[in-house]
Amino acid sequence: MPYLPQSEKEKIFSGKDIHVHVDSEHSIDREAIKKEFFANEKKYTFTHFICQRWENIYLNISHIPTIKPLLHFVLDTAIEIYRRELKPHETLVIPHDLLGYEKNEFWFNAAQPGESTGVHNHNGKAFLSGVFYLQVPKGSGNIHFKLEDRKEFAIEAEEGKLILFPAEFDHYVPENCSNEVRISLAFNLYKLPLVSVEVK
Ligand SMILES: [Fe+2]
Repeated sequence: MPYLPQSEKEKIFSGKDIHVHVDSEHSIDREAIKKEFFANEKKYTFTHFICQRWENIYLNISHIPTIKPLLHFVLDTAIEIYRRELKPHETLVIPHDLLGYEKNEFWFNAAQPGESTGVHNHNGKAFLSGVFYLQVPKGSGNIHFKLEDRKEFAIEAEEGKLILFPAEFDHYVPENCSNEVRISLAFNLYKLPLVSVEVK
């Protein structure tokens, strides 16, 4: 399986494609987020019961306020990287309850040893999808993309790494071959305004 070279971390492809950005300044407090995540197990809601386990874990922001700087980090990075794809009046949003949206568009994935995530995409009306890695034990699985016009490839999962990709891209994560849980936050980003208006 080919891995993308380290030198191409910042910008892998051009246009609306896959981008990798590492939180090298450690602006995100991953330990605080994990602490709240584990402490609020009773508040979890789930979707996607696949292969005898719940794939997606949802927590409202009021139960995990430490997630706010991470959501800002994702949005700031995405708007900067994809600004050429946005019209002057457009911006990006990760919908969630505090913004008045019914459904949160961010969720946790906690893969226990032996668990994997099958091929899927986040198809719909989202402009982008992404993942941020909170806890990645050695050997717990990288993200693999399967694209129609390109060969399958993987991007190494790494704590503090953000990967942004078009929502329609198929991807999966192989088995967690470590002895610890692997934790990531996934999300969908939408364009605002949701209905495009002509600006002259
Ligand atoms: Fe996904």
